[in-house]
Amino acid sequence: MRRHILAYLNLFLLLNLLSSFPLSSSRSHFNLKRGNSISVGEKSEFLISPDNSFTCGFYSLGTNAYWFAIWFTNSRDRTVSWTANRDRPVNSKGSKVTIRGDGTMVLTDVDGTVVWQTNTTTTDVAAAELLNTGNLVLKNRQGEILWQSFDFPTDTLLPSQAFTKNTRLRSARRQGSYESGYFNLYFGSDNVLRLISDSPDTSTAYWPNPDFDIYRNGRTNYNSSRIAVLDDMGKFLSSDLFQFNTSDMGYGIKRRMTMDYDGNLRVYSLDNLTGLWDITWQALGQPCNVRGVCGRNAICVYAPQSICTCPPGFEVNNANDWNAGCKATFNETLLNSLQVKFLELPHTDFYGFDLNATNPTTWETCRDMCLVDFRCQAFSYRLLGQGFCFIKSALFNGYASPDFVASIYLKLPNNLNASKPDLFHASSSSCGSSEQEIVVGSPSMYDFNNKSVRWAYIYPFFVGLGAIELLLILLGWWFLFRKHGIPASVEAGYNMISSQFRVYTYSELKKATNNFKEELGRGGSGAVYKGVLSDDRVVAVKRLGHVFQEEEYFAEISTIGKINHMNLVRIWGFCSERRNRLLVYEYLDNLSLDRHLFGPNFLDWKQRYVVALGTAKGLAYLHHECLEWVIHCDVKPENILLDSEFQPKIADFGLAKLSQRGGPGSEFTRIRGTKGYMAPEWALNLPITAKVDVFGYGVVILEMVRGVRVCNWVVEEEDRNEAAITNFVRRIKEEMQCGRLDWVESVVDSRLGGGFSRNQAAALIRTGICCVEEDKNKRPTMASVVQTLLECEQENDG
Ligand SMILES: *[C@@H]1O[C@H](CO)[C@@H](O)[C@H](O)[C@H]1NC(C)=O
Ligand SMILES: *[C@@H]1O[C@H](CO)[C@@H](O)[C@H](O)[C@H]1NC(C)=O
Ligand SMILES: *[C@@H]1O[C@H](CO)[C@@H](O)[C@H](O)[C@H]1NC(C)=O
Ligand SMILES: *[C@@H]1O[C@H](CO)[C@@H](O)[C@H](O)[C@H]1NC(C)=O
Ligand SMILES: *[C@@H]1O[C@H](CO)[C@@H](O)[C@H](O)[C@H]1NC(C)=O
Ligand SMILES: *[C@@H]1O[C@H](CO)[C@@H](O)[C@H](O)[C@H]1NC(C)=O
Ligand SMILES: *[C@@H]1O[C@H](CO)[C@@H](O)[C@H](O)[C@H]1NC(C)=O
Repeated sequence: MRRHILAYLNLFLLLNLLSSFPLSSSRSHFNLKRGNSISVGEKSEFLISPDNSFTCGFYSLGTNAYWFAIWFTNSRDRTVSWTANRDRPVNSKGSKVTIRGDGTMVLTDVDGTVVWQTNTTTTDVAAAELLNTGNLVLKNRQGEILWQSFDFPTDTLLPSQAFTKNTRLRSARRQGSYESGYFNLYFGSDNVLRLISDSPDTSTAYWPNPDFDIYRNGRTNYNSSRIAVLDDMGKFLSSDLFQFNTSDMGYGIKRRMTMDYDGNLRVYSLDNLTGLWDITWQALGQPCNVRGVCGRNAICVYAPQSICTCPPGFEVNNANDWNAGCKATFNETLLNSLQVKFLELPHTDFYGFDLNATNPTTWETCRDMCLVDFRCQAFSYRLLGQGFCFIKSALFNGYASPDFVASIYLKLPNNLNASKPDLFHASSSSCGSSEQEIVVGSPSMYDFNNKSVRWAYIYPFFVGLGAIELLLILLGWWFLFRKHGIPASVEAGYNMISSQFRVYTYSELKKATNNFKEELGRGGSGAVYKGVLSDDRVVAVKRLGHVFQEEEYFAEISTIGKINHMNLVRIWGFCSERRNRLLVYEYLDNLSLDRHLFGPNFLDWKQRYVVALGTAKGLAYLHHECLEWVIHCDVKPENILLDSEFQPKIADFGLAKLSQRGGPGSEFTRIRGTKGYMAPEWALNLPITAKVDVFGYGVVILEMVRGVRVCNWVVEEEDRNEAAITNFVRRIKEEMQCGRLDWVESVVDSRLGGGFSRNQAAALIRTGICCVEEDKNKRPTMASVVQTLLECEQENDG
């Protein structure tokens, strides 16, 4: 589904690009002669390979940062295969690449500093050429190659490019960046081709399987030539006898082998019809086998989705960068005493960093060895006939899998409250979840319908996403700059704006709304008016009450513009003129949920369940999946709109400040939200996380079950001091505990006359109760709410 939407969007953008991009102002060449240069700027110049499959020139990621790079001309997202200056981008103006008289090719920044240069020092150099293989070469007059980019790969190896003892593929630090990361492909000194994670903290080889010896892994170490190559047919052969064939073996297909930012090594093949990449081989089938993918103290859990999580007593350092791992919430000097306890983490291991490995030992001996050794942070004990004991000095390379037979016993201070975690059932329907959960690698490896990670499918999707981003950036830039002469001070804000929405003039919107005549609603962020555009599209125009600064406004709009999900209201465009800030949204026939819940025309049960599920999906997308983590902060029936089929679409998102998801550093300057739906964190001045939306959602689904607005819920006289929601939850929990059989019936909207699914109602009530827990850590995530509700989706009992 998403893939389709993207495909169309891509097509649309591509057409746009072709029809509007100022092609006339760029020039391409087959070679660059000595003394000449290529520069960034209005008249971009490129080198292209004779068959046009590769392009070389300046490449930008949307900010004022350029790389001298080679990319696949025909891949939709212009996938980069090589960069000269990966860790040191240059400025947009005045940077250039020159072949100097002394024969060096140099990249200089705007101030003339040399950012990168070739090691050629012969005046014999005549010209630079880009070959059909994607190799940038410096040749002399006789046509001999004096220097080639193939000797200095970044994260990608191209067919026919030799991988040698002097080369290394190094991953990017994160998705969508070129900065060097921690995962490497290289030839070890024992002549074996390896993958290693090489962070500032640790260096651990993880492929081939480190638990096996060289021969069991099918390798040899006697051939010291240390050379490997992927040929044009898709056959890979290395001197340690490692070999594979890509799944699409054959000639005529463009391929690349990339050391991906998630630590996996993959071969991609270009689909020449769609311009997207398909994975045709990968080194590791299971993401948690990439050691160190989650960072220090963290655990990669495979159950069956792969996520990073922190063990009890630890919290995540940076939820957007799991390489940074987790940190202890307690004072670690407390471990240097005997006042400690051990917490079992079943099916878990921290690989390596063993102070002492002994066998056979009893569990008690193992524990005592860890207890008396102050360096010991945990011990691993496994019973395989006899007891194996591993004393750990550091917690790296953590992973947990239901198939793994040993347990880790974590050393924690005695007074720390921590209980044995249930790593594999984080999404069970009981209250509680781990705040630190995040998907490994990319934000969207959950597939709610299939409950399994499908890498091969998801990767092309992400590649596509990258393409869109890039095109949007390019288009947004060009479009806005050309048409509107935007002041330079807000350039940064424009960079990320996607052009799938238009810029409207104020007079256009004034006319469309008939001078803001028909008001549809009014909320915290402003009033919404109905309008008809000149192309007859009916729209909802929101006039923001708060006059945002331009920078702030563009920052928030750029977020909204990138978000696209069937349960979120689409934005068509915006207007920013003088003090007017308007947003143009799609218009939904059935307006908001409150009009179909609390009045005389109310939704039947089936429709209510659809709305509850769809709303959960929309919020889960905002929290877990979309490119930027977005907290809505004002979930309430007025912000859930219904289309003509009564499918829900969430409105008004993206207007709260973006938050580092779950991070304690989240800062909110403005309080947003509506009384009755606001989580206790607001009043208690605690960090605001996505869990405030979970709270609001809980209130909304309980309202949907009851058919009564929360402010009208009856609170008995003796409980007058309690909030309606607290009172309700307490009463219903009492009823459930007392074994009252009709506790569901006592809650469900009596106007339905019994027409509802009892299982679904029970699921909604239970979920609602969990969602409004005072302690945000006990509330489930929206992703797990979706899973819970999906399980009951097909219920039809009466
Ligand atoms: C430049 O680097 C390449 C590859 O490492 C090497 O083969 C060559 O000898 C170097 N040339 C000079 C002049 O240092
Ligand atoms: C070592 O490997 C290379 C490349 O695969 C091969 O050409 C060479 O013959 C091998 N040498 C021996 C002694 O097997
Ligand atoms: C790859 O294909 C060739 C045939 O072209 C075959 O001989 C070889 O065994 C295959 N290698 C692997 C690892 O399957
Ligand atoms: C596309 O790729 C196929 C092989 O998968 C090849 O036969 C065909 O010629 C290619 N088409 C173009 C236009 O390059
Ligand atoms: C940890 O505890 C030790 C001794 O109790 C104390 O000296 C140290 O300052 C504490 N460190 C932190 C970060 O609280
Ligand atoms: C491991 O512990 C045993 C028993 O305490 C001790 O005898 C042995 O020397 C230790 N080994 C190492 C490498 O520290
Ligand atoms: C641990 O929990 C107990 C009861 O659950 C509580 O009394 C105690 O204060 C807690 N200790 C800490 C350090 O949080």
